[in-house]
Amino acid sequence: MLRCILLSQVRLGMHIHKLEGSWLEHAFWKSSFLLNRRDDLQRLLASRVQGVWIDTLKGCDVGPVDTMCLEGPVKKSVASKRKAVSTRKDMQGEMARALKVCAFAKHSITEMFSDLRMGRAFEPTHLTQLVGDISESVLRHPHALISLARLKKANEYTYMHSVAVSGLMIALARQLDLSPALVQEAGMAGLLHDVGKMAIPETILSKPAALTAAEFETIRSHPVKGAEILRTCPHISERVLDVCLHHHEKCDGSGYPYGLIQEQISLFAKMGAVCDVYDAITSHRPYKQGWNPADAIQKMAEWKGHFDARVFQAFVRCVGIYPVGALVRLKSGRIGVVIEQNEKSLLKPVVKVFFSARSRLPIVQEVLNLAEQPDTIVGRESANEWGFKNIDELWSGLAQTPSSYFD
Ligand SMILES: [Fe+2]
Repeated sequence: MLRCILLSQVRLGMHIHKLEGSWLEHAFWKSSFLLNRRDDLQRLLASRVQGVWIDTLKGCDVGPVDTMCLEGPVKKSVASKRKAVSTRKDMQGEMARALKVCAFAKHSITEMFSDLRMGRAFEPTHLTQLVGDISESVLRHPHALISLARLKKANEYTYMHSVAVSGLMIALARQLDLSPALVQEAGMAGLLHDVGKMAIPETILSKPAALTAAEFETIRSHPVKGAEILRTCPHISERVLDVCLHHHEKCDGSGYPYGLIQEQISLFAKMGAVCDVYDAITSHRPYKQGWNPADAIQKMAEWKGHFDARVFQAFVRCVGIYPVGALVRLKSGRIGVVIEQNEKSLLKPVVKVFFSARSRLPIVQEVLNLAEQPDTIVGRESANEWGFKNIDELWSGLAQTPSSYFD
């Protein structure tokens, strides 16, 4: 959809379709492009462009606070500001917006990591807008963005893992009733928790095989290296630094780098540990397929001594016992994938059924809200064992073929 907005509303992540006014009045040589560089944004804001047409199907839209959808050239007299209203959207309604946030996030994180690799200055305040976008998406619907970010391709793991952990940290912080300022800080901590990976050779990070002992030790140095990087950056809070340094500590003292125990680990670092592990084990990696999200929750619950019990219980209340994307069998013998949570009961999510375990044949797809049905979940199922290939497509609506969903 094309939309004409004020120059002051332009932000990173928008797809610029056309600029109003003489091209001589601005420094851009392209009329249609994705605005993903900070210096381009600054040049555009400093120009005398009268209005900007954006394509909201190819990039970010204006936020709900400042939305001014105009039918023609910019005329302030006909534009009316809409009051900021945060309302919970349905899952599918939020998916399209969450996809754009993920695309913008991928560009921003890639740029940040690239700057760090080149030894360039890193300005974390530029990530504040991104944390705000992720936070707004999670607020509108807590499962859309965090479920989407899990679908990262193996070759974009390092970048999209940061986005996924940021979304999970925000959802968990809200679940723990932390203040809005701490929720934002949790989101920033998620984005930056693995920044030390930039000091690790790409050949080790993306190695499509098991690591050697020496390579494993190199990987284990990333929390300390990350903290060293963040200490040189302005505007990094102690909590963000703490999560970076301690997100691999375990409550029983078996973690690294310092082998801290329960009471020595902060709440934020405990949150980081849960969010980091959940996204790591449910994501596809170069050397293994990601776990079924319901299996991941089950396994994490069995790892005694790893996570803080209170934080883990809050996390399960966030993502569910059967998270979005989980493959389950119903008492009726039907197999389906979880597409939505039920806020009142973690055991009764919304499930899209598509297969009969009894006849071992596909059935007509049907969406069942288990809170309103006599059917119930009797167990988790393995997509690999059944030979199902398109589980993620069933709940996300995204095709399985693109090299990345977030380009
Ligand atoms: Fe890490």
